[in-house]
Amino acid sequence: MKTPANFFKPLTIGAPEPIRELPIALERTIHFLPPHIEKMRAKAGQIAQKVDVLLGNLEDAIPIEAKEAARTGFIEVAKAVDFGPTGLWTRVNALNSPWFLDDMTEIVGTVGNQLDVVMIPKVEGPWDIHFVDQLLALLEARHRIRKPILIHAILETAQGVKNVNEIAQASPRMHGMSLGPADLAASRGMKTTRVGGGHPFYGVIADPDEGKPDKSKEQRAFYQQDLWHYTVARMVDACQSNGLRAFYGPFGDFEDSLACEAQFRNAFLQGCVGAWTLHPNQIEIAKWVFSPEVEEVRFAKRILEAMPDGSGAVMIDGKMQDDATWKQAKVIVDLARLVAEKDPERGAAYGL
Ligand code: GLV
Ligand code: MG
Repeated sequence: MKTPANFFKPLTIGAPEPIRELPIALERTIHFLPPHIEKMRAKAGQIAQKVDVLLGNLEDAIPIEAKEAARTGFIEVAKAVDFGPTGLWTRVNALNSPWFLDDMTEIVGTVGNQLDVVMIPKVEGPWDIHFVDQLLALLEARHRIRKPILIHAILETAQGVKNVNEIAQASPRMHGMSLGPADLAASRGMKTTRVGGGHPFYGVIADPDEGKPDKSKEQRAFYQQDLWHYTVARMVDACQSNGLRAFYGPFGDFEDSLACEAQFRNAFLQGCVGAWTLHPNQIEIAKWVFSPEVEEVRFAKRILEAMPDGSGAVMIDGKMQDDATWKQAKVIVDLARLVAEKDPERGAAYGL
């Protein structure tokens, strides 16, 4: 571990000062753009206005023969589009791939001043972050990048989950983490064939009725459970305790919007701030789910108003409120204010 005095020092002479606190940003949707496809590049400016973050994907799902085209396509988009308040990220290829080094050097060298965050796949431990941290500092110094490029890790290996807290603490560049359920399922040896979401066999079955000899399936309720509950909880704890943001990753069944919404909502309620959107029909789902509910915001506002300094206890509609519910209410109202700034229609419904 680095000493606290050295933790916030630039790793290369001439690299920008590391940040001490994440910039405030609404990041409900990280929308994945395949930048090797010309039609998608042409739509990038339009999509950027609808999402909170636009990410140029260079890793999985990009065919091997299109890896270079995706990289140059991303650079083209980053140069051409005015992103305004929308974040610009890229997912580079994995550290052990033949493309990673050129992804980093070419992108930082050409559009490093536009890039907010680089997403690193298959992070196994803090050593991966240290390596990217140093490389970024060298590239930033060489190309006179003005603000530090942040790192977002995908949590998608069994080893990465084991080391989740050390990854979160590895660098002041850490922005947050996303759950990568597809690679994680493979790494863990889970017996599934899906990109995220639940599984109909993963659940609990009710006891048979006492005294009844019939123990058959038909007589007993089965409740499907969330396969990702444990991992999301570990990721949220590691992120929140280190001042980072946690995200649910991809949901692969584009036709099942109800299941996508349910998975995103579980993540939201557990503390995640956003999710990946791979298909345009997931953008509105993510924006809706990761914005607080109107009734919840109004109730939270009543809590804050009833306890102006956040101390003591009051009753509202028969429910006890104290310091802890005041803090929960503040999380919701702060998020609602951010949403309202970007989305005045939703903001009006909040009545802030
Ligand atoms: C995302 O990269 C995943 O593997 O789920
Ligand atoms: Mg993956």
